[in-house]
Amino acid sequence: MTIDSPEDWPNSKRIGRVVALTLKAMQQAAKAGVTTGELDALGERVMAEHGARSAPRLAYNFPGATCISINDEAAHGIPGARKLMPGDLVNIDVSAELDGTFADAAVMVTIDPVDPRSHNLVLCAQRALKRAIATARAGTRLNEIGRVIEEEARQSGFSTLRDLGGHGVGHGIHEDPHNIANYYNINDKRVLEAGTVLTIEPFITTGATHTRTMPDRWTLKTSDGSLSAQVEHTLVITRGKPVLVTAL
Ligand code: CO
Ligand code: CO
Repeated sequence: MTIDSPEDWPNSKRIGRVVALTLKAMQQAAKAGVTTGELDALGERVMAEHGARSAPRLAYNFPGATCISINDEAAHGIPGARKLMPGDLVNIDVSAELDGTFADAAVMVTIDPVDPRSHNLVLCAQRALKRAIATARAGTRLNEIGRVIEEEARQSGFSTLRDLGGHGVGHGIHEDPHNIANYYNINDKRVLEAGTVLTIEPFITTGATHTRTMPDRWTLKTSDGSLSAQVEHTLVITRGKPVLVTAL
């Protein structure tokens, strides 16, 4: 959405804070031996305490409150009986709705000990997000986001997924501007505008550039089994630094 009414700011900030608190609680509870279903139940409780609802369930009938994707799973992992194991790279993606306004964010958790390459992958995704946020302001070409994310990945010897990316968010979970690429899409002529609410979500991998859908019809794994790390914030574009909606 574009921030166009006086209620939009407080509404976005409220749901952004709930998403951030949910992620924080889940992050702290993510330990070896805990199941992804247990983590998801915790996330659902935190959302409910604040009167918020799971966006993927609401919008797509996703079989869980949150998406938890491990190792070569890039996105939309279904929570269940799987136990977190030492060495796992865990992506927790929370999107939620409160009074008709949506926000979306994700973090990575490592279940120690993880190997140095996995650790570097997570750090690279975090750097890519930070750089992309710093570049996102009104008047800038939208494809700058993908350009800096791809550059950051390449500098570390990693790749980015070309079939997953950021999106507008606000009155729905996925809205205009769609397809905010994680690579430099030279054909994308769009320009960022003040007031637009969107997500930036770099997907960095140890090789793959695409995903494939698992037989469960939700889970997206990297095409070649390489590892994936994704982190995400919802932000509002301004003429200066963007406002992070999902930061505490
Ligand atoms: Co997300
Ligand atoms: Co998103």
